[in-house]
Amino acid sequence: MKILFLNGPNLNLLGQRQPEIYGRTTLADIEGRLREKATQAGVEMDFRQTNIEGELVTWIQEARRKSSVIVINAAAYTHTSIALRDAITAAEVPTIEIHLSNIHAREEFRHQSLIAAVCRGQIAGFGAGSYYLAFDAALLLQAT
Ligand code: DQA
Repeated sequence: MKILFLNGPNLNLLGQRQPEIYGRTTLADIEGRLREKATQAGVEMDFRQTNIEGELVTWIQEARRKSSVIVINAAAYTHTSIALRDAITAAEVPTIEIHLSNIHAREEFRHQSLIAAVCRGQIAGFGAGSYYLAFDAALLLQAT
């Protein structure tokens, strides 16, 4: 089993960026804890971040038949990207949408996710915990 974690724009700044919303945990901290969980569970994982929309599209395309589950925090592209939605549909890999913050409790433009309808489910509002919950959800998807 292989879980692919994808992170979109500005998530490289996690820990410094609006800590009152996103917390003080860095993306490297999150990756480290997920790697421990992956070792314990005996699963392979890949963890990537980019500020470029097309790079996310390419990585989702490449996941077809290679990854068992995709976990994606598409960041601001969540609210704008039909290209990401189409890539997720085309990849035919079960995908879990995640957010650190509760996007539904924030500005109205964040309430809409263009990828939600093509994902298996959404986890939002648990800070770094959204990543760890998504890891467990990925294991659950594989087991069922
Ligand atoms: C985010 C929420 C998005 O609205 C925002 O653009 C982000 C981060 C989150 O993890 O809470 O960059 O995806």
